[in-house]
Amino acid sequence: MSFGRSKGCTTAHLIFLAASLLHVHVHSDTDFLGEGFINIDCGLPGGSSYLDNKIGLNYTSDDGYINTGENHNISAEYNAHELLTSSLNLRSFPGGGRNCYTLSRATAGHKYLVRAIFMHGNYDGKERDLVRSPLVFDVYMGLHFWDRISVSSSTMNYVAEAIIVAEASSVSVCLIDIGRGTPFVSSMEMRKMKSSLYPAAMYNQSIALQERHSLGASSLIRYPDDPYDRLWWPSQGTSGWLNLSTTSEIKRYSTDPFEVPVRVLQTAVTSPTTSTPLNLSWEVPSGWPATILPGYYLNIYYTDFQEQQLRAFDVYYNGFLWVPDNVSITPAYLFSDYSNATAPFTDNSGFYNVRIIATNTSVLPPMLNAYEIYYLIQHDDTATDTQDVQAMMNIKTEYQVKKNWMGDPCLPEKYTWIGLTCKSDGVTSRVKTLNLSFNNLYGAVPDSLTNLSSLRVLDLSGNHLDSPFPEALCMAGSLTLRYDAMNGHPCNGKSPEKKSILLKVVVAVLVVIVALLACTLTVFCFCRKQVPNVLLGCANLQCPKSHEVGCNNVHTSDRREFTYAELVAITNNFSTCIGEGGYGPVFHGELKDGTQVAVKLHSPTSATAKGMEEFSAEVGSLTTVHHRYLVLLVGYCTEKDHLSLIYEYMPNGSLYDNLRGRNTFIQTLGWRDRAQIALEAAQGLDYLHTGCVLPIIHRDLKSHNILLGHDMIAKISDFGLSKSYINLAQSHISVTAAGTLGYIDPEYCVSGRLTTSSDVFSFGVVLLEIVTGEPPILPTHVHIVQRVKEKVIMGNIETIVDPRLHRQYDFSSIWKVVDIALLCTREASSERPTMSMVVSHLKDALALEEARATESNIRQVGSNADLSISWVASGR
Ligand SMILES: *[C@@H]1O[C@H](CO)[C@@H](O)[C@H](O)[C@H]1NC(C)=O
Ligand SMILES: *[C@@H]1O[C@H](CO)[C@@H](O)[C@H](O)[C@H]1NC(C)=O
Ligand SMILES: *[C@@H]1O[C@H](CO)[C@@H](O)[C@H](O)[C@H]1NC(C)=O
Ligand SMILES: *[C@@H]1O[C@H](CO)[C@@H](O)[C@H](O)[C@H]1NC(C)=O
Ligand SMILES: *[C@@H]1O[C@H](CO)[C@@H](O)[C@H](O)[C@H]1NC(C)=O
Ligand SMILES: *[C@@H]1O[C@H](CO)[C@@H](O)[C@H](O)[C@H]1NC(C)=O
Ligand SMILES: *[C@@H]1O[C@H](CO)[C@@H](O)[C@H](O)[C@H]1NC(C)=O
Ligand SMILES: *[C@@H]1O[C@H](CO)[C@@H](O)[C@H](O)[C@H]1NC(C)=O
Ligand SMILES: *[C@@H]1O[C@H](CO)[C@@H](O)[C@H](O)[C@H]1NC(C)=O
Ligand SMILES: *[C@@H]1O[C@H](CO)[C@@H](O)[C@H](O)[C@H]1NC(C)=O
Repeated sequence: MSFGRSKGCTTAHLIFLAASLLHVHVHSDTDFLGEGFINIDCGLPGGSSYLDNKIGLNYTSDDGYINTGENHNISAEYNAHELLTSSLNLRSFPGGGRNCYTLSRATAGHKYLVRAIFMHGNYDGKERDLVRSPLVFDVYMGLHFWDRISVSSSTMNYVAEAIIVAEASSVSVCLIDIGRGTPFVSSMEMRKMKSSLYPAAMYNQSIALQERHSLGASSLIRYPDDPYDRLWWPSQGTSGWLNLSTTSEIKRYSTDPFEVPVRVLQTAVTSPTTSTPLNLSWEVPSGWPATILPGYYLNIYYTDFQEQQLRAFDVYYNGFLWVPDNVSITPAYLFSDYSNATAPFTDNSGFYNVRIIATNTSVLPPMLNAYEIYYLIQHDDTATDTQDVQAMMNIKTEYQVKKNWMGDPCLPEKYTWIGLTCKSDGVTSRVKTLNLSFNNLYGAVPDSLTNLSSLRVLDLSGNHLDSPFPEALCMAGSLTLRYDAMNGHPCNGKSPEKKSILLKVVVAVLVVIVALLACTLTVFCFCRKQVPNVLLGCANLQCPKSHEVGCNNVHTSDRREFTYAELVAITNNFSTCIGEGGYGPVFHGELKDGTQVAVKLHSPTSATAKGMEEFSAEVGSLTTVHHRYLVLLVGYCTEKDHLSLIYEYMPNGSLYDNLRGRNTFIQTLGWRDRAQIALEAAQGLDYLHTGCVLPIIHRDLKSHNILLGHDMIAKISDFGLSKSYINLAQSHISVTAAGTLGYIDPEYCVSGRLTTSSDVFSFGVVLLEIVTGEPPILPTHVHIVQRVKEKVIMGNIETIVDPRLHRQYDFSSIWKVVDIALLCTREASSERPTMSMVVSHLKDALALEEARATESNIRQVGSNADLSISWVASGR
């Protein structure tokens, strides 16, 4: 253990020589002034900032650096005590054991001074007796224990400060609740430093400040006197010491690794006689974690203000003489000099004492201008691989993970990020397993996952991630990958990015053209055909009075297949026509066990035997699909050229009829009912898409096919009827293989391929119908999606909403539904959400409306703007 010293110049004479030879810097650092500073006033209202006139630095709120905790102001009675404007408010963390600030805007490899300041100020008004029971919490720098803050005074500014070399483009500072009170923080600051300063701070080790004093000073010295904004606290030392000061300029070496500000060096203390030592002492703070035995670095700074008489002294550190080459220190005249510890020093006693004693030849007593005591931030926990840290940060950002994912992913023990484990090889920690199952993650799988090169197990099941996965992930042979098999193996298929941009542009242009054509065509067809049909009541339908009886080919083995004779019996010879389906009339019926059913009868077709077979197989499998929000397909009849489907009877009609006010039993649906219906239908559709081994595509979703049962429970009807059926049944004018005009996915027109996202498009149209009360196509108007979009741009939700709701709704709830509807109806199917995501948002929308209804506490219109959702990013 020894002290290093500035090279060579040990006497005043030599200094003169040196000063004339060396390139001497006085204020060399103006180019650094205030640059690379981050000044965060924790607890300041989000988005605000101010200029602190006392130091001339701008402080901003911390909302961009953390998303947990709560803002508080200190009690008014302490305002007068505060030294720093940034201590007037703070952020406290009553929830979660660990809360971290992510100080972004760092550059890996650069050196920074990082500081957190804590002033309690009775912010919670609890008048806590801090003297008797101090509030104690820990502060971590990344993975490493940095400081333990023990707050025993409401008026003190407690400071944690460290000098670090950034490992990545952000620095994380975590406050850790150790069960002795709620952690809080008043301000957080980061200052870029020249990398030649403080050589003890290197990429593999950081140093934290224990004490820093400007001796003989009367006030705090910091920025702009110190271009790095170190806080030099005034100290007069022990009683009996004398103050010295000068107004002369003080020079220093251009290579000085500490760059103590001139103002700090212009004051000093001295002992009254040569026989009285100057002594400094400190100890490991009481209550420090027992496992942490800090190693200390001591820097002392001195310069003489006179040159007439000899001043020489030796330094004893815990009794040892630590002067290199046994040469005593002689402070140079108006020239900055220092002695620094070359290695950290640890004494098992935990007590440290430095005595500065005049040599027996010294005429003047010892003097000291300033000193700093640092301790080594222990890096004995191995550091997390920086590429892994960066990759996890990217994954967190891309998925907007809001859970307790803060700081370094491989924090020790219980603070390791939820859902992952790390493995250390003694030097670095690497992420080894990552379990992101059932985290409601949407969108593409981030490429960053492939940068976790030590990852062995990755569980992505239970999410709504788009296939395919990044190629590199699929190629990683030693990786155990769990995922949802619903869209096939995620590693099959081409990555969307692989498509050429040209192709994308061509497809986009085609989609637009076809969508425009479809709109034109749709309006045209609607005017010509649809209007009369809508106006036709049941009485005007040509319900067949009698049918040929000719079902010879009875499959009695399958209970779901009915004979034509059975149909006649069930419907009482087709006596009660209850409506018109897509392909023909619908009759009310009753099974032998009393179950009410609806029998959809189809116009005679000339079906081939093969067509019939296909149809039977397909419909037969649909009868096995049971769900609370799906209309049960009870059975079917395929006799001869008659195709019939027998469905569960839904007494309250279709959503279409209810929105048009064509259900005479029920008054106009209120918003709560509509939101509930939307949610139920979405769940039904989600089940079709994800509940079975293979996804079932509805193909013809529209408000006519959402039926209301007893208690207004909504169920989806007519699902999964594919081409074989449609070919057999012969198209009604409004029906094509892809559904009904007004609801058709425009991308389908281009690709000719139906996917679950075609249903999502149709469902989006239904949602807009629910909000507006209007059908998708109105004569002489553009399509409902365009109509709503134009009004959304105007920003006034009331012009969109069905006027029959009489403003009895939660605005946020409506916005949420409109937002999700517009996402569902995106032209590009890849931009549409999955039904699971739609369900999740509709749940929120319903909850918002229910909250309004129960609290009868109508939300402020003004708060709506920020409620627009971004489904790709939501991490719930
Ligand atoms: C503080 O911010 C204001 C406005 O943003 C700016 O005009 C001023 O120059 C800034 N002051 C400092 C010291 O950066
Ligand atoms: C703190 O006080 C300011 C006014 O001085 C006020 O605007 C702000 O809302 C207060 N913050 C809290 C959390 O009470
Ligand atoms: C950091 O590296 C230096 C050499 O580059 C070494 O002397 C020092 O002991 C290391 N620190 C730690 C904490 O391992
Ligand atoms: C040294 O200066 C400080 C503040 O300027 C003062 O409080 C203290 O009394 C002085 N000490 C002596 C011995 O004069
Ligand atoms: C300074 O050191 C001397 C000698 O070890 C001791 O007597 C004195 O109490 C010390 N003073 C302080 C303030 O530590
Ligand atoms: C310094 O002095 C001590 C005794 O005070 C002696 O043991 C040691 O060898 C000396 N070191 C050098 C480098 O002269
Ligand atoms: C002490 O200062 C010297 C330069 O004189 C430097 O080389 C050395 O790294 C410093 N040691 C520490 C621990 O700051
Ligand atoms: C001064 O100290 C040196 C060694 O530290 C010693 O040899 C010498 O005798 C001392 N002189 C006086 C006058 O005490
Ligand atoms: C991931 O976590 C879920 C639930 O927490 C668990 O069921 C599953 O087995 C875990 N996956 C792996 C690969 O350990
Ligand atoms: C993977 O890591 C390398 C090196 O750190 C980096 O350049 C690259 O951008 C990273 N890739 C992703 C997808 O994060």
